[in-house]
Amino acid sequence: MKKDFSILGIESTCDETSAAVLKGGKEVLSNVIYSQIEEHKKYHGVVPELASRAHAAKIAIVIKEALANHPIDCVAFASGPGLPGGLMVGRVAAETLAQFKGVPLIGINHLEGHIFACDFEGSQVKERLQFPLVALVVSGGHTELWYVKDYGQYKVLGKTRDDAAGEAFDKVAKLLGLAYPGGPQVSKQALLGRRDAIDFPRPLLPGTWDFSFSGIKTAVSYYLRDNKNFSIPDVCASFEQAMVDTLVTKTLLAAKKYKVHHIAVGGGVAANALLRTQMQQQAATRKIEVHFVERKLSSDNAAMIALAAYRKLAHAEKAGKPCKKNIDINPNMKVRSWD
Ligand code: KG4
Ligand code: ZN
Repeated sequence: MKKDFSILGIESTCDETSAAVLKGGKEVLSNVIYSQIEEHKKYHGVVPELASRAHAAKIAIVIKEALANHPIDCVAFASGPGLPGGLMVGRVAAETLAQFKGVPLIGINHLEGHIFACDFEGSQVKERLQFPLVALVVSGGHTELWYVKDYGQYKVLGKTRDDAAGEAFDKVAKLLGLAYPGGPQVSKQALLGRRDAIDFPRPLLPGTWDFSFSGIKTAVSYYLRDNKNFSIPDVCASFEQAMVDTLVTKTLLAAKKYKVHHIAVGGGVAANALLRTQMQQQAATRKIEVHFVERKLSSDNAAMIALAAYRKLAHAEKAGKPCKKNIDINPNMKVRSWD
């Protein structure tokens, strides 16, 4: 790849329509994000049909803005996992542009993007990730633990059996009448409450690396049913603590078991302040370094898709092999090693 090889990234897996240009694998020239929060707010969650329509309405303008006059050498889009309608919109836009410009098209796993995003420092790309590491992907749609030997070498250790962590935050927020997306609202209320007020469960599922968050959510709903004069801040603080304890405990156990000194945390829930401080503190006592994605790049964006594509292309070039393009969309895509 030439030094200034530029990639247009496209992201449309859930409720953000985004396009970005990454130059030379080093610098984000643009990262335009149209968030559909307003469309979904009154339903307290993402409505797939509305999401598809909003992607279709915005994608051209978002791409136009991100492209500006930047030359591009490749188009990368998130081909899964995600909502089928959004994936389809992203694929059509990406393929049309790639054909028109006469440049290659590459499909990227959205979850891989969330972990690669840990390498951004503002608009610059740094090699912050150090391997081997344990990766925690925590978003509104997914919660997974991976052992990552190097860029593109993954072993999925476990994933949620029911709700994703972000989904649990969103559902608890809904039970409490708080706005969507629930994570930031619950955190805000939690600051005013007592974290030990209510003893919600910490489902650790010993013997597996899987998660299960629906039990915590159900415990909250029973608590609200049985305690008419509940305190919203206490419920939020105790719920948030239970979620963070579960995520931190399992991730650190995995790091210990796989003898790694590095952890990467990406995805929308990685913005959670309590998760950030408690993971950092507890990891530090075990001499483990935690690489959190910067907050502003924790939620869905196309820069992370472009970066994952750059790393994948560079890896193939180094190995002297053609890069697998994977342009078929797959709503249930699993993360796969590159070789
Ligand atoms: O990664 P993301 O933007 O979209 C998906 O790929 O799902 O994650 C969105 C999720 C939502 O569920 C939202 O409530 C959650 O991330 N989230 C948070 C926080 N900020 C966003 N959860 C807990 N604490 C936060 N501060
Ligand atoms: Zn995401």
